[in-house]
Amino acid sequence: MNGVTSSILCAVTILLHLADGDIYLHNPRGSNNRLDESSRARANGNNIFDSQNNERGGYNVGSLFYYQGSTLSVEWTNQHSCHDTNNHCELVLQYMCHDNIRDGVSTQTIPTNPALCANYNCDLDRKYRMHEDSSHYFQCLYRQRNKGIFTADQNMNNRERARNTRQNPAGTRRGYECPEERDYYPYWHPSPWVDIAVMTNDVSRCHYYRNESQNVKSKWDCVFPKAVMDKFKVNRVNVQLPNNEEDCKKFELPAKIKSDIRKPQWVEFPAHGVAAPDCRETDFTRDNHLGNGIGGYPNMFNWTIPNNVEHENCILRIRYNISTSDYDGWTANSSFNANPRRRNDGAKVPLADRFGFESEEIAKERGYIFKNNPVVNVFDGLDLDLRLAVNTAQFGRTFQDRSHTFAIRKRPDWLQGQTVHNLNVRGKRGNIVQVYPAVEYDFVPNDLEVAVGDYVHMQWTGSNTNPRNNDGQGLAGTDRNNLILLTAQKFAEGSGTADYRGAKHGHYGTNYPMRAENSTFLGLSQEDALTLAFLDPGQFRGEVSELDDAGTYFNLSPRKTTSAGTYQYMCTRNNNFSNRDQKGRVVVNASPFKREAIGQMGGEVALDNGAARMSVEENTFSSLKNVRLEKWSVSEGEAAMSRVNRALGAGDDYASDFVVLQPENLIEEGDDDKFFTLRIQLSDDSDDVDVYYAPSDFSAWSKADAHVGGGVATVRAQHGGVYVARSKSNVGMIVGVVIACVVVVVIVSGAVFYFRRNPTKWQAVKTNCRNAERSMKNKV
Ligand SMILES: *[C@@H]1O[C@H](CO)[C@@H](O)[C@H](O)[C@H]1NC(C)=O
Ligand SMILES: *[C@@H]1O[C@H](CO)[C@@H](O)[C@H](O)[C@H]1NC(C)=O
Ligand SMILES: *[C@@H]1O[C@H](CO)[C@@H](O)[C@H](O)[C@H]1NC(C)=O
Ligand SMILES: *[C@@H]1O[C@H](CO)[C@@H](O)[C@H](O)[C@H]1NC(C)=O
Ligand SMILES: *[C@@H]1O[C@H](CO)[C@@H](O)[C@H](O)[C@H]1NC(C)=O
Ligand SMILES: *[C@@H]1O[C@H](CO)[C@@H](O)[C@H](O)[C@H]1NC(C)=O
Repeated sequence: MNGVTSSILCAVTILLHLADGDIYLHNPRGSNNRLDESSRARANGNNIFDSQNNERGGYNVGSLFYYQGSTLSVEWTNQHSCHDTNNHCELVLQYMCHDNIRDGVSTQTIPTNPALCANYNCDLDRKYRMHEDSSHYFQCLYRQRNKGIFTADQNMNNRERARNTRQNPAGTRRGYECPEERDYYPYWHPSPWVDIAVMTNDVSRCHYYRNESQNVKSKWDCVFPKAVMDKFKVNRVNVQLPNNEEDCKKFELPAKIKSDIRKPQWVEFPAHGVAAPDCRETDFTRDNHLGNGIGGYPNMFNWTIPNNVEHENCILRIRYNISTSDYDGWTANSSFNANPRRRNDGAKVPLADRFGFESEEIAKERGYIFKNNPVVNVFDGLDLDLRLAVNTAQFGRTFQDRSHTFAIRKRPDWLQGQTVHNLNVRGKRGNIVQVYPAVEYDFVPNDLEVAVGDYVHMQWTGSNTNPRNNDGQGLAGTDRNNLILLTAQKFAEGSGTADYRGAKHGHYGTNYPMRAENSTFLGLSQEDALTLAFLDPGQFRGEVSELDDAGTYFNLSPRKTTSAGTYQYMCTRNNNFSNRDQKGRVVVNASPFKREAIGQMGGEVALDNGAARMSVEENTFSSLKNVRLEKWSVSEGEAAMSRVNRALGAGDDYASDFVVLQPENLIEEGDDDKFFTLRIQLSDDSDDVDVYYAPSDFSAWSKADAHVGGGVATVRAQHGGVYVARSKSNVGMIVGVVIACVVVVVIVSGAVFYFRRNPTKWQAVKTNCRNAERSMKNKV
């Protein structure tokens, strides 16, 4: 090998320099800076925020409205993994609402020069999309950046404002977003964004996030009145507003600016005054696999739409922050920065120890330097080098997507106090190659489980300006959706476990819909079924076989589910077996249930009306669990037991409903000293009650560790499974009577089946037995 070409340069991809698809919001639809353009690539990546995403991502439109307190399954895909060993990852979900927030009608970036806007006021010029307002941006533009921050070996010379960051050293502008605010969370200056949730690989930071969130903590900034700020630009002066109280109080305007007000004020911006954000573990995704999480479904966060907000113009924001373990992003600070005059020597991030070099000097000689594109000598003594694709601006990088505007509306009276689930459509017209990194059509949540009596709010939207050659049925370029019931699965058999829905086998009525006269969807009326099929009213006659004449937007106001069952459905227009599949499922559960993601930070899941509540203290669970709490009536519980030929021998009579907690495995092995609390409402105030526990297959009942008082049993528990309270017998006579009743009810062959179908009869027998018990008791 000759000396001149002794280096073989080989790019080892650690992080690609080109953005190649990173976080995409699918429900609500993320814009990725798109606004109805018909081109495959978005028109302007700097339109309103810095996404760092691939230009092909995003949806053209996406405005829907949600009722206060309803559940919205926020779905996204992220590309570079989460909850995996290959990076540190945070997902930060926020929203904001304001009268001036708008999607606009142009893909041009909103100007900063008021002369370019209608009435000399860009904040009010509805031509341009606006999220944050101009004062947010101008504060950022003129404020000194946080000099304590790690900027690695990036060129920060004369880049001194909050718009210059390690990830955006040149301070490129996107809308009125502030780069420093974007790159860092929780931010130390005011931000209009209200925090919803932080999901992180490192929940030990949760207290910090929750404390520092502007939801609960006021923030400060050094401000001049707008009229004074406007002069900075006109005078082209290099004003640098201090970012701390001390300097702010000392600051005075340079002499060449004429102004009556010469000193800024250090102003407190109040907290948003809402609860601190949820903070929990992230879900697993593999890197370089933009797609689904474990189990094949997209990762999601079920957002309860805030009850205290009523607004027509809101935006949802998701940030995806990944950092490498090559340095500690959370402790590295400016003392690690490269010498500004010798940036090629790299940042002062120690690498020697980690790779077993005797000193940093020796590590440096071998090319182990924290800087852009280092060339490393891996094989000692061999003159062969490898070039690493390192970009310190992206070695720790935040991606982002934001929704189109949506509304949060007050509930009408008839919806007060009800549980409301949003059911929407994601995806856009085209095959997977044409739409990627967006997705093909699908319903969201694809697999929705509700309880009988819950409301489902079906609503979707789409665009008429998809690329005209994208595959799909109906008029070129258009999105349309409908919802039609499929037939039941062919082979259905209860497995007899506590999951009383049972195991089902075989396919649903595949690609032909169910005859409408034989069916109901969720118990809805035939009229609703017609509306869902033809998107009518909204369109009177016209071409409806492929819905071409219907609009892109559809809303069936919330409907009450009245009929338990599993409903598999499809969209007749878009479903095209072997090309595209648009099917979904709603399970209407006969019994009430609630679900909550609970991890190391603890949490609570409670059934309505206090029937049962599970509370988990911090540091009880060692990983995130999707906890589901369900209530069965006594007859349902008995039926489930009888299906596997099990019975609960202990105790006399039921003193509560059956409470079913899933998953079974809640406390990890080795955490035997940890417990959570399960509170079960009892049928009366009697203290003579024991709580029994069985795994979901009822294989063995045992007495739970419960404290009883005031009509409530408080169980110290470690397992998911089935819990039920039974009254204790103190008197032989009572036992006799109760056993007699139980014998009559249970032993008679076929009785359980009978009572399962006729629960009121069972209730009657039970009440008689209870009355018998009471009357005996009274006599004692
Ligand atoms: C940087 O971090 C080190 C320790 O990690 C600390 O001692 C030092 O005070 C920090 N410097 C700044 C400027 O924050
Ligand atoms: C991203 O992580 C870095 C640490 O690597 C942290 O300093 C920054 O605040 C985080 N930003 C966001 C938006 O989460
Ligand atoms: C959060 O705030 C609480 C209450 O003020 C305080 O006790 C705790 O130390 C703080 N934790 C962190 C990590 O900042
Ligand atoms: C969110 O809601 C969907 C739809 O009901 C459900 O399938 C999913 O399990 C829920 N996830 C959590 C963590 O509650
Ligand atoms: C189904 O989709 C394929 C691919 O887009 C298309 O060629 C075919 O015509 C579609 N089928 C019908 C009946 O429209
Ligand atoms: C469907 O409905 C028709 C007419 O109402 C009835 O004759 C038929 O038996 C039903 N089929 C099923 C499978 O229920």
